[in-house]
Amino acid sequence: MFDPAAGYPTHRPRRLRGNPRLRDLVRENVLTRDDLIYPLFVYHGSNLSREIASMPGQRQWSLDRLGEVIDQVVELKIPGVMLFGIPERKDARGSAALRDDGLVQQAIGLIKKRAPELLTITDLCFCEYTDHGHCGPLVETAGRIDVDNDATLPLLVEQALSHCRAGADVIAPSGMMDGMVRALRAGLDGSGFAHIPIMSYASKFASAYYGPFRDAAESAPSFGDRRGYQMDPANGDEAVREAAIDLAEGADVIMVKPAMAYLDIARRLKDAFRVPLAAYNVSGEYAMIKAAAERGWIDERRIVLETLTGFKRAGIDMILTYHAPDVARWLQQG
Ligand code: PBG
Ligand code: ZN
Repeated sequence: MFDPAAGYPTHRPRRLRGNPRLRDLVRENVLTRDDLIYPLFVYHGSNLSREIASMPGQRQWSLDRLGEVIDQVVELKIPGVMLFGIPERKDARGSAALRDDGLVQQAIGLIKKRAPELLTITDLCFCEYTDHGHCGPLVETAGRIDVDNDATLPLLVEQALSHCRAGADVIAPSGMMDGMVRALRAGLDGSGFAHIPIMSYASKFASAYYGPFRDAAESAPSFGDRRGYQMDPANGDEAVREAAIDLAEGADVIMVKPAMAYLDIARRLKDAFRVPLAAYNVSGEYAMIKAAAERGWIDERRIVLETLTGFKRAGIDMILTYHAPDVARWLQQG
């Protein structure tokens, strides 16, 4: 038995570290390609593959060129993609998100034709579709303008049904609206989509790490911020409560977001619920690593693999990351 009190010289942990074969044998967590989900930005217009300045290596894709990146994803054996759409026209309630011929809907159709086995997960929210950049329609309550929580729910259901009709495999509500999972589960079940899993952005924090994404998705709020619906980064117990509520409402997978500064939350959720856990390694986390790597200040490959392995150690089962293609390539090379 391991008796820490026995101490040195009985215990010499270094015995297991000297030989690389032994290190392989005692390794507790392993990152694989099967853990990865790659987020993609589908942009209006045509013949577009535009690099996002604050996310080197990541691009906005028009529908007619989306196939290029889908082919790479398939070639690299990345199991799934998460789709975001950036439409040409935005309005107060984000109606472009609801159209069966919307960008994400068309992207799903295209992917299902080109690569039927690729898992297609869709982000459900309205901030990329509203002219004010908030995650649902607005309402004024007691002199404060806020997202109208309960008016957002049926719209989310409409968006989800439209994605499911297009062939989405999983839906992922990201707006942190109260009751969103319950509304979606009921909406899907009532329309023949009882088999579609819900990956809920259950514990999503109001984070400065989303900065580059909001450039990429043109989804920054035009006034105010998201602190009225996303969580206070100071709160851990509340993250556990949020996840408990979403699970009670029928979430199949829960997510923590961002990842790097929130690994304590991931571990707590895994220990508390023992359910499939996702983490979103967000745009700002990606940008920091890319920027330092570009300057030669860090070893990008080692830093990324170490970071993502840390996610696994924290109990995270699946990782949404912009590093996915690089990681898949590196792991392929062994
Ligand atoms: C939409 C959404 C956001 C992200 C994923 N879904 C942005 C936000 O909440 O403002 C962030 C992803 C990233 O930063 O990479 N609600
Ligand atoms: Zn949103």
